[in-house]
Amino acid sequence: MIARSPQQPDRNLALELVRATEAAALAAGRWMGRNQKESGDQAAVDAMRLMLSQVEMDGVVVIGEGEKDEAPMLYNGEQLGTGNPPEVDIAVDPIDGTRLLAQGRPGSLAVIAMSPRGTMFDPGPMLYMMKWIVGADALGVVDIDATVKENLNRIATAKGKDVDDLAVIMLDRPRHEELFAEVRATGARLRLIMDGDVAAGLLALQPDKPVDVLLGIGGTPEGVITACAARALGGEMLGRLWARSDDEAARARDQGYDLAEPLTTEVLVSSGDTFFVCTGITPGDLLDGVEYSGRGATTDSLVMRGKSGTVRWVRARHTFDKLMEYSSIDFD
Ligand code: FBP
Repeated sequence: MIARSPQQPDRNLALELVRATEAAALAAGRWMGRNQKESGDQAAVDAMRLMLSQVEMDGVVVIGEGEKDEAPMLYNGEQLGTGNPPEVDIAVDPIDGTRLLAQGRPGSLAVIAMSPRGTMFDPGPMLYMMKWIVGADALGVVDIDATVKENLNRIATAKGKDVDDLAVIMLDRPRHEELFAEVRATGARLRLIMDGDVAAGLLALQPDKPVDVLLGIGGTPEGVITACAARALGGEMLGRLWARSDDEAARARDQGYDLAEPLTTEVLVSSGDTFFVCTGITPGDLLDGVEYSGRGATTDSLVMRGKSGTVRWVRARHTFDKLMEYSSIDFD
């Protein structure tokens, strides 16, 4: 006979949070290819905020749309939820890939991550960080101080592959020219994306996906969010803050940031009890986009919990009435 654990099943907040990313995706999806970044973003923010306000939690936005003056909704420091326990830190990205959505390109997502209060790294004024992201099959092999060549060799060995067979994914940015050359010199294959390094990081974190490693400089908010997913997937997000100028570096140091410190997954989110959810807006490699029909719409989401390591793929069908609740867009 199997002995039962006396522990009772507890609440998985991610199962409630997915309603908020679904709502954001449903509202934003209608703006696909309309070349109106702000409108798509606003639709996602409004819908996500409405759904988050209903969740039984005492949440504070640590990674949001910006400071209050610039972002009246989902701003850093905003209290979300009913105000009852649990006390949590929240990171929101109503659309990762606003330009992808506006231009009708693949890979935009609505994303939320959460962790217990006080456990999420607050990047403050630092907008960018260097990132190395690998899955559980290459855990612990990346050294932030090693060369690209050394790290890619180690990742290839851990995965039992030739370096030539590795697929490295990077944001297509001029700041990466030197890194591109270093990657190409190793023989590894390179995949460039226009935007959306959360979705790209999630591909790298999953050993069964056709991407082995994400490399390069991207947003710090997206880095913290991806670290919450790494906790659930057993992979690794490793990086370092990156300043665009000497002035920016000096300002960050004045505020107590150490630009040399390696930011491990554990530094980016110091608790393993994380929740991570995302819903596809435009179709991509990670998730399908929102599909509208005459009767409603279908969404495709990923729902994860760090404590248990459970990962769910959730396809949901929404009725037309529900859709109207999330978005009252008038396209006339
Ligand atoms: P937004 O959708 O918020 O614009 O972010 C898109 C994105 O590509 C992120 O995925 C990435 O981390 C960041 O922008 C990179 O910043 P930049 O475009 O300034 O290089």
